[in-house]
Amino acid sequence: MSYTFFLLLLTLVHSTFSSLAPTDRAALESIRDSLTDMPGSAFFSTWDFTVPDPCSSFSGLTCNSLGRVAALSLGPNLSGSLSPSISNLTHLNQLILYPGLVTGPLPPRFDSLPLLRVISLTRNRLTGPIPVSFSSLSNLHTLDLSYNQLSGSLPPFLTTLPRLKVLVLASNRFSQNLKPLSSPLFHFDLKMNQLSGELPPAFPTTLRYLSLSGNSMQGTIDPLEPLTELTYIDLSMNQFTGAIPQSLFSLTISSMFLQRNNFTSIATGAATSLSQGSIVDLSHNSISGELPSWIVGAESLFLNNNRFTGDIPEEYVKSLINGTTKTLFLQHNYLTRFPWNSGFQLPDSVSLCLSYNCMETDPVVGLSTCPIEVAPLLSRPAIQCSRFYNHSSTG
Ligand SMILES: *[C@@H]1O[C@H](CO)[C@@H](O)[C@H](O)[C@H]1NC(C)=O
Ligand SMILES: *[C@@H]1O[C@H](CO)[C@@H](O)[C@H](O)[C@H]1NC(C)=O
Ligand SMILES: *[C@@H]1O[C@H](CO)[C@@H](O)[C@H](O)[C@H]1NC(C)=O
Ligand SMILES: *[C@@H]1O[C@H](CO)[C@@H](O)[C@H](O)[C@H]1NC(C)=O
Ligand SMILES: *[C@@H]1O[C@H](CO)[C@@H](O)[C@H](O)[C@H]1NC(C)=O
Repeated sequence: MSYTFFLLLLTLVHSTFSSLAPTDRAALESIRDSLTDMPGSAFFSTWDFTVPDPCSSFSGLTCNSLGRVAALSLGPNLSGSLSPSISNLTHLNQLILYPGLVTGPLPPRFDSLPLLRVISLTRNRLTGPIPVSFSSLSNLHTLDLSYNQLSGSLPPFLTTLPRLKVLVLASNRFSQNLKPLSSPLFHFDLKMNQLSGELPPAFPTTLRYLSLSGNSMQGTIDPLEPLTELTYIDLSMNQFTGAIPQSLFSLTISSMFLQRNNFTSIATGAATSLSQGSIVDLSHNSISGELPSWIVGAESLFLNNNRFTGDIPEEYVKSLINGTTKTLFLQHNYLTRFPWNSGFQLPDSVSLCLSYNCMETDPVVGLSTCPIEVAPLLSRPAIQCSRFYNHSSTG
């Protein structure tokens, strides 16, 4: 047997065990050419195109039994841009770019990548819109493009992809309003963008995590009322108005951040309770009415800077004494009485702030441990505590 023939045989045998397909090899070369290791990073040190089988030696590369690239993880600490040749890796089901300084647009053609289940390209400097070709990603489960500089409106098809469960676009520059959602999402994070307008009329009831914090959204949050599986909700720092549906205060909720909006009341409905260890922040709104007594199950309760009136319910004091509530901020309201008895004792770990209400100061002096930025004044000017006082005319 001649040596040349032996080599040929070896090549044939090798290719039946599927080394990297030529189209994928060409695409990887082009991907490699458009990216660079940042100083101190050595991600591409294993990418030597003279080796017989990149599938077994390139870091970040996983091939399937056909010698096609199935998963590609790039970085961290790369600069450059993403080559459009990524769309030639037609068997790709996972594409990851770890944090770095990669700039430029997303590759435009995703319609040739129908197997993609996971796309995660976070904490780089990608710009431009989400390409229309994303609409064909019918197997996509997770899309995380957070902490980039992507912009444009949210394309309507994105929230209707039939298998999309996790959508994270936090900290980008997406604008305009949210489109109707029909994907079976359980994690939806669009915090720190430039979204405006109202919530879409319906949300998938599968949703467990919702964050829209730090946008400019308005209107009521009534569309969230049916979401009984939510464990985490953050709508802080928007301009939402109206009543907070009571159904949101459920045993499944562990974190609720609704602070710094324009809510005016808490809707009363069926009796609910909060689970132990939960955190509820409704501070810096315009909520009026009496304090609800069913809210006391929370471990941290921030109700400060609202327009609550009336006496503080006894349950609040009991919950502090028995250690269920560890933080209770009620400053800057119009509350009239803290039902304290000199025989009571608070656990050392309690943070309680009662400043700037309409209470008699005697029983509560010394109990209040406000954060330092809160004015030490225990009471409002008497005129603001008159029952004829118009609460909407001050903060
Ligand atoms: C990707 O595929 C297109 C179309 O088949 C081809 O024209 C192009 O050369 C390929 N790119 C690379 C880097 O192989
Ligand atoms: C990437 O860069 C960061 C910040 O310079 C550094 O802390 C980290 O160790 C680097 N990681 C790798 C894998 O090079
Ligand atoms: C919402 O609240 C902010 C600050 O509390 C206030 O400046 C703004 O005028 C309010 N907007 C509406 C529509 O009430
Ligand atoms: C603490 O007190 C609150 C308010 O009365 C009550 O709802 C809760 O069940 C009590 N928890 C414990 C552990 O005793
Ligand atoms: C209370 O004050 C607001 C804002 O200044 C005003 O629009 C409203 O008419 C007042 N309400 C009453 C009952 O005086």
